[in-house]
Formats: sequence, C-alpha cells, structure tokens
Amino acid sequence: MASGGRFAAGDEGPIVSRNLLHRLVVALLLGIAMAMAMVRAEHSDHGYGGHELTGHGRYLGVPPRQPPPPPPSQEALLAAAIKDERVTTYVLTQNVDLTTSLPMVSRPSFTVRGMCGKDGRRRCVINGMNKYRGFVANYSSHVALSLINLEFTGLRAVDDASGGAAAAVDGGRLTVKNCVFRSNKVGRGGAGGAVLVQDGSFDISGSAFEGNAAGDVGGAIFFGSDASGNVSATKFKSNSAMAGGAVYAKEGKVNFHAVDFSANRARARGGALFLTVTESVVSKTRFNSNSAGQSGGAVHVYLEFLNTTFCSDTSFNRNTAAKDKSSSKVSIAGPEGDKSRVFFCAAKVPSGVGYEGPDSRVATGCKGCKPTGR
Ligand SMILES: *[C@@H]1O[C@H](CO)[C@@H](O)[C@H](O)[C@H]1NC(C)=O
Ligand SMILES: *[C@@H]1O[C@H](CO)[C@@H](O)[C@H](O)[C@H]1NC(C)=O
Ligand SMILES: *[C@@H]1O[C@H](CO)[C@@H](O)[C@H](O)[C@H]1NC(C)=O
Repeated sequence: MASGGRFAAGDEGPIVSRNLLHRLVVALLLGIAMAMAMVRAEHSDHGYGGHELTGHGRYLGVPPRQPPPPPPSQEALLAAAIKDERVTTYVLTQNVDLTTSLPMVSRPSFTVRGMCGKDGRRRCVINGMNKYRGFVANYSSHVALSLINLEFTGLRAVDDASGGAAAAVDGGRLTVKNCVFRSNKVGRGGAGGAVLVQDGSFDISGSAFEGNAAGDVGGAIFFGSDASGNVSATKFKSNSAMAGGAVYAKEGKVNFHAVDFSANRARARGGALFLTVTESVVSKTRFNSNSAGQSGGAVHVYLEFLNTTFCSDTSFNRNTAAKDKSSSKVSIAGPEGDKSRVFFCAAKVPSGVGYEGPDSRVATGCKGCKPTGR
C-alpha cells in the first residue's frame, strides 16, 4: 500500500509515472499468468490425463504428479479398524497374512466378520505365519469381542506365560461363531493354544478346533479364573497339551452341549477335557479316541465345591489312559470330605471312571440335564 499512498498524493510526478509503468508491467505479467492458468484449468476440465498436463505443470512451477500410492493391505486396514474406537464391526473380505501381531483391542465392543469368496460366505483366513498372535483384549478394556466366520491358522504366542494365540480376552466377553482354529500354538508355559478367556464370559458355537497345541494346559482353549459360558455345536480334533488336550477350565462355569471331542491328547491328565474347581454340565457330547499319558482318557475332574454332570446323551468310545487304565473315560481327584460330586445321569455309574483317593466321589444324578438328556 506504500506506493498507492504516494500515487494518491500526486505531488511527485516522475515517481508516479515510474510507479504507473511498474504497475502496468505487473498487471501484464499477472494477466499472462492467469490466462495460462485458465488454459490449464480447461485442460483439466476436459479430463486430460496427468501425463498430458505434465508440460504445463512444469512450466508453471507445479511439481509433476506422483504415481498414486499402492492401496493399503488387508492387514493394514484390519489393524487400523482395531485401533479406531469408532469402528464397532469390521467386515473382512479377503484373507490376511500377518507380518506382525495384531494391535491390542481396547474398546467396549468389537466384531470382526469374515465375508470371503464370491458370495461372501466363505470364512476369511487370518494366518499368523507361525510367528504372530491374533486378537488380544485385556482387563482395562472390558471388551466384548465377537469373531464370526473366520479361520485362524498359524497364530503363535511364544511368551512363556501367555495364552490364546488366536484370541485372548482377559476381563471381557468373547463370542465365537462359525469359526475354525487350526494349528495355533502357545509356548512352553502357555495355556490355550488358540483361545484364552479369563475373568469373563464366553459363547462358542458352530466352530471347530483342530491341531492346536499348548505347552502347558488346554491345547485349544483355556478358561481361567471365573470365566463362565457355553460351548456348543463345536468340534475339537487332534489338539494337544500337558493337561486338558482340548480344553482346560479352572475355577469357573462351563457347559458343553453337542460337542465332539475326538483324538485329542494330554501327556498327563484329561485327554480331551480337564475341569478343576469348575461347575459343568456336559450334554449330547461325544468323546471318541481321546488319550492321556496318565489318567482320564477323555476327562479329568479335580473336584472342589462344584459339581460336574454328564447327561445320558453323552457318550464315551475308545478313549485310553496309559497309566491308570481303569480311568479310560473319566478320572477324578480332589480334597477329602468335600461334598461335591461327579454325577452321571444314568441308572449306575459307568465303567472306566476312576477316583484317585480313598472315598468315591461319583454318584448318579441328572441336575442340569434337559429332560431329553436323561
Ligand atoms: C491393556 O490395554 C491397555 C490399552 O491398550 C494398555 O495400555 C495396557 O498396557 C494393557 N495392559 C496389559 C497388562 O497388557
Ligand atoms: C449359557 O447358556 C445358558 C442356557 O442356554 C444361558 O442361560 C447362559 O446365559 C449362557 N451363558 C453365557 C455366559 O452366555
Ligand atoms: C453338589 O452336589 C452336592 C451333593 O448332591 C450338593 O449337596 C451340593 O449342593 C451341590 N453343589 C452345587 C453348587 O450345586
């Protein structure tokens, strides 16, 4: 505004004319620049490609266009959704090969639903590449995590004390529907090769666990301290651990309905299932060809305070206990004098049930069984 002020004053002729000339030149240059910008805009409006415009862009000092960045990977999109607290449901449409473990889930509610294949009905595979772990939610987050129509394979938690390589919920709720867990593994001191739920609740249905392993307990699943829930219409095949080849439940409540346990193996007790201080009703369930290195070819129960009931529609076939052969089906242990029992909903207690101790803790009874399970 300084020169404008001087021009308006009108008392310095030569300066004014020089200023005028200067302004004219500036105006002319501006005019040229604007005209060229318009030409460029027109080119853009007509949809010319980036390459055709490069020349103009250079001339006007605009940097040439960069090639578009590659689209983010399925893994990156999933990780971003896990971190974005506004996302409550994430629909996966392609398989994911992990290159790192998934980030921690910490929000009230998060659902991952697989919709793969042409019709979106196939399970989407999350592959841990035998190195990385899957979903983890801990105490502070109180998450309700739901996993639907997914396959988890090759997930790993190698940390000695960790568990649940595919999904670990500590202080929350885990829902699993129509999922497959295959060849997931936790390390030497680990509990729950595929899934761990602690201090929370769970509902696992319509799923399959095959070939999962834990160095310590619960080859497929570990339910710990105060976890309560249901496992239904689910298969456990060829899982292995030190104790509880498929499932290990401790100090909680778990019901099994229409579950198929086959060829699971424990190096010590409970070829398929190990229940310790846990209330449980087992209905319409099959235990076939499970094995234990010591006792309880199919099931080992450590009884204290809480009862376990096997309904009459539950069957045991070809299970074996290598050391205590008389407990090919179920072995029972627990402190003396305790009033809790293992009940069989039958006319009499079947053979293949052994008690490790002086007093028998087995009885007949049907509490918790549906009328059809009698
Ligand atoms: C639990 O999750 C929160 C939130 O992500 C995190 O800050 C905290 O370190 C986690 N705690 C443990 C014990 O992993
Ligand atoms: C387990 O199933 C029973 C009966 O179907 C239901 O009442 C209960 O709420 C379920 N438990 C959990 C934790 O979902
Ligand atoms: C377990 O069974 C015993 C013996 O029938 C009974 O006295 C007790 O109340 C039962 N406990 C529970 C928690 O249902």
